[in-house]
Amino acid sequence: MATPLTADLIQKCRIQFPALAREHDGQPAIFLDGPAGTQVTQSVIDAISHYYCTCNANHGGQFATSRESDVLVQQAHQALADFVGADNWREIVFGANMTSLTFAFSRAVSQTWSAGDNIVVTRLDHDANVSTWALAARDQQVEVRYADIHKQDCTLDVDDLKSKIDERTRLVAVGFASNSSGSINPVKEITAYAKQFQTQVFIDAVHSAPHRLIDVAGIGCDFLACSTYKFFGPHIGVLWAKSEILENLEAYKVRPSSMDIPDKWMTGTQNFASLCGSRAAVDYIADLGRTLADDGSLSRREALQVAYAAITKYEDDLCTNMIAGLKSIEGLRIHGITEDERMQERVPTVSVTHPKLTAAELANQLGERGIYAWDGNYYALELTEQLGLEPDGMVRLGLVHYNTQQEVDRLITALKEILA
Ligand SMILES: Cc1ncc(COP(=O)(O)O)c(C=O)c1O
Repeated sequence: MATPLTADLIQKCRIQFPALAREHDGQPAIFLDGPAGTQVTQSVIDAISHYYCTCNANHGGQFATSRESDVLVQQAHQALADFVGADNWREIVFGANMTSLTFAFSRAVSQTWSAGDNIVVTRLDHDANVSTWALAARDQQVEVRYADIHKQDCTLDVDDLKSKIDERTRLVAVGFASNSSGSINPVKEITAYAKQFQTQVFIDAVHSAPHRLIDVAGIGCDFLACSTYKFFGPHIGVLWAKSEILENLEAYKVRPSSMDIPDKWMTGTQNFASLCGSRAAVDYIADLGRTLADDGSLSRREALQVAYAAITKYEDDLCTNMIAGLKSIEGLRIHGITEDERMQERVPTVSVTHPKLTAAELANQLGERGIYAWDGNYYALELTEQLGLEPDGMVRLGLVHYNTQQEVDRLITALKEILA
């Protein structure tokens, strides 16, 4: 049984995020835009600032600041390895964001494909895990197969996905959780199935990262990507891949840069300060785990396990309450799982539409009341197309653990007022 995240502890978490003190017309602003980027902790800001104040230097120099910078960068690799459950820090590649990393990586991976091969992507995913692969496939004359969704609850049709895998399937690219409907995909099951065909599996964990513990070893996938700005850190992308893949695959490189991993995959000069910030984001979550367990001796990975168990439970309860409130609003349609008993199948990202207002109008009216929520398709384009919701899209109400029941209550009251 996980130690619960009490209201008192949530307040202690909130205090660590300076932006959460923001007011809008004399009321606290409500940040429901986490799926597009969460707020950052003071510790993240401090880590970035510390880097610039003390050891701002490029990589590999024969002098103190460069050496200190390199140590901090390695520590960031280690923190992210702990975060995804990898035991080798060299398997962590940093880059500008998930999209850029995936474009670069898909270009390299696709060199191993040949005409007649196929890859499988899904109609539930963010386009960063669809077009990146589809464009690489086009260049190699490789067929792209799209796994369908169940429209009624916006979940992945896993049987359809499996039916599209065969001996010529070189890659399955699938998200851990939808950034639109919040549905969680059974990535372990999908990976195990794909492995019967020697198919590589790429997981987009960008959306699940603030909500669910990542465990690359447990999933059994070959590659996984996430972005630290979705889990309380700076705007940085992270790619994990098995070391043998990173070592053997040919990278697009300039000369004479290092061929050792992970440098081989990290083109150009990195955003070193933000790498330090990304470590601080992981440590914020780990520290929460140590507080919950009342055990300062937990390793970072152990502490993350404790933290995520509590975050998952807290968010599931908050999401159940938010969905109950949304269901009480006449005409409001929730595009995703709504049953209480299925909360473990989703993260607390809930997309809605109402016939009275467009998504942009509804988001705008919420924004005027200090409730910050995204509208549109949020790049989950295949999904909004399937649902017939282009070009307006939906309004996305995204909770993370720093959101509270009071905020959910204010949201429901505001929606009732707006849609009355
Ligand atoms: C599920 C998912 N995948 C990929 C991305 C793209 O991430 P990045 O902005 O790091 O390229 C996003 C961003 O919203 C996302 O939600």
